[in-house]
Amino acid sequence: MSLDPARLRDQRLVVPSILSADYAQLGAQVDAVLEAGAHVIHVDVMDGHFVPPITIGPLIVEAIAEQVHAAGAIVDVHLMIEQPERQIAAFASAGANSISVHHEATPHVHYALGEVREAGCRAGLALNPATQPEVVAGLEELLDIVLCMTVNPGWGGQAFIPRSVAKVERLRALAPDAAIEVDGGIDEGTAARCAEAGANLFVAGSSVFGDPDPAAACRRIADAIAAAP
Ligand code: DX5
Ligand code: ZN
Repeated sequence: MSLDPARLRDQRLVVPSILSADYAQLGAQVDAVLEAGAHVIHVDVMDGHFVPPITIGPLIVEAIAEQVHAAGAIVDVHLMIEQPERQIAAFASAGANSISVHHEATPHVHYALGEVREAGCRAGLALNPATQPEVVAGLEELLDIVLCMTVNPGWGGQAFIPRSVAKVERLRALAPDAAIEVDGGIDEGTAARCAEAGANLFVAGSSVFGDPDPAAACRRIADAIAAAP
């Protein structure tokens, strides 16, 4: 079954983040989670400015896009970069299906979201832990995804910030038509708490690729979110 990117809002999905993958065997690692049923693959782009680390760019999106699309899945790009509006076209041509920009990374959020849509991708707005959920007000028509950071952006393997659960509830009310994606410190337990609060996309990096069996880890989180009220 192929995932229709326009229907991201409608189902609870585990979204493995390749940030914690072994890049020497990236294709095999992506295959493992696709075979485990992942429909969305998350790519974390960091520029050394918006956040201190530098990670990956459009070349890696291009390297995995065909494999991901052939499995009926989509590539979800999370831009932790300043002036993200300058990079949207490059990621869209590389094969991204959804692109999230940070509210804190540009004064041109409205424009950037429009550019993402214009490039043929689903548009996401990412919010740091200190950013109030109310910033989504007035952007509803441009928003396919609200990405709620549940740790501070920049690194995998951090602890989930417990106050995020209440923020997810508020975002669900403020953006009823958008997918709510949680990112950071997500494992079976925190995913279930966020699902109950209204999140429906669950980014998991270290809890999937830090496990000796990423496919099994992915299935465990999928079971936890399916069982959550
Ligand atoms: C962090 C990234 C996350 C990261 C999450 O800034 O946005 O997507 O991969 O990693 P874990 O799941 O290990 O917290
Ligand atoms: Zn991310």
